[in-house]
Amino acid sequence: MDKTRSQPTEEAMSLLKAAREVRENAYAPYSKFKVGAAVRGASGVIYRGVNVENVAYPEGTCAEAGAIAAMIAAGETELIEVAVIADSPTPVPPCGGCRQKLAEFGRAETPVTLATTDGDRLETTIGDLLPGRFDMSHMDKA
Ligand code: THU
Repeated sequence: MDKTRSQPTEEAMSLLKAAREVRENAYAPYSKFKVGAAVRGASGVIYRGVNVENVAYPEGTCAEAGAIAAMIAAGETELIEVAVIADSPTPVPPCGGCRQKLAEFGRAETPVTLATTDGDRLETTIGDLLPGRFDMSHMDKA
């Protein structure tokens, strides 16, 4: 993963702020690990998501999935920027499934900011998070 400590863009900072704020609403009584995510649709609108756990543990959903669902429900299908934040020792890495979900709606070069609540940040991209992604071309044999 490309680790950058450079000054983030204003857009990246506003997206991270949205993720930080919505994280407070995460429902994580089992893991106690609250995650906030925000994606910016191609229109510029920000969509937010949090992890929503369940007493039947596998039924829980990740923050990234929630933000993507909000974007799709609003009628947008392209995301141009992502931010994820948690109270983790290092900037929180999206799980494997969420990497594939982000790749469905973003591009390889789409910027992703991963952060801790202490202010540590890591700037990366969807392509760096999921090299060799499975896509439509893998279903074309001809
Ligand atoms: N979690 C997320 O919301 N996003 C990730 O990418 C990593 C994990 C959540 C799922 C679960 O509610 C908690 O963090 C602990 O795994």
